[in-house]
Amino acid sequence: MRNAKNFPLVFVLLALASTLASAYDPSPLQDFCVGINNITDGVFVNGKFCKNPKFVKADDFFFSGLNKAGNTSNAVGFAVTPVFEDQLPGLNTLGISIVRLDYAPKGGLNPPHTHPRGTEVLTVLEGTLLVGFVSSDQDGNRLFIKVLYKGDVFVFPIGLIHFQLNIGDTPAVAIAGLSSQNPGVITIANSLFGSKPDISPDVLTKAFMLDKKVIQYLQSKF
Ligand SMILES: *[C@@H]1O[C@H](CO)[C@@H](O)[C@H](O)[C@H]1NC(C)=O
Ligand SMILES: *[C@@H]1O[C@H](CO)[C@@H](O)[C@H](O)[C@H]1NC(C)=O
Repeated sequence: MRNAKNFPLVFVLLALASTLASAYDPSPLQDFCVGINNITDGVFVNGKFCKNPKFVKADDFFFSGLNKAGNTSNAVGFAVTPVFEDQLPGLNTLGISIVRLDYAPKGGLNPPHTHPRGTEVLTVLEGTLLVGFVSSDQDGNRLFIKVLYKGDVFVFPIGLIHFQLNIGDTPAVAIAGLSSQNPGVITIANSLFGSKPDISPDVLTKAFMLDKKVIQYLQSKF
């Protein structure tokens, strides 16, 4: 560091940054805060309403079913089984969640998407996946790509566009943890070509440098 006097300021800025970074998944202020939709029995607010701790039971922290394969009979050959706060209310305020991902053989695709509120760490349980993410404009839109086999782990940093493709002849299965109780998902093609109502083709024609007819075709597909 050029000037040691700056050290405390840097420290304060880092502390402030970490406070701001937690703004959308706050650190819990108590042991747990099981989410409820009905506030009759609710106390405290730190995320959703919390269930009164004296009524909390083991089942509030429990979800069953990630042993079951998702149905990949769809256009992309992919299924996600989420375990977010909606499925597991005990996740409320804890800043973490988990999903099961199933990919059909030979090309099952989790299409390019981002999680606005969560970093994702994925591990392959079965099969072979080609995975990647693209860094931001400021970083030069670099593609980071890797082939993953059973037992391999890959991390997709928060907010960046990423995808997974099954390049094997067998079904693939992965489990992923996300650093939010509700990480959100924005599938790029759905958002841009499937918005309701449509984004003006003039906008997309220029943005993608495509013929307007191609844009209208894509919009009809989503
Ligand atoms: C909310 O919870 C209370 C107490 O458990 C119950 O009496 C009431 O019917 C519930 N309301 C709704 C809309 O579920
Ligand atoms: C999987 O989804 C397809 C298409 O929606 C449906 O026809 C099929 O019955 C589903 N299979 C199972 C096992 O649910």
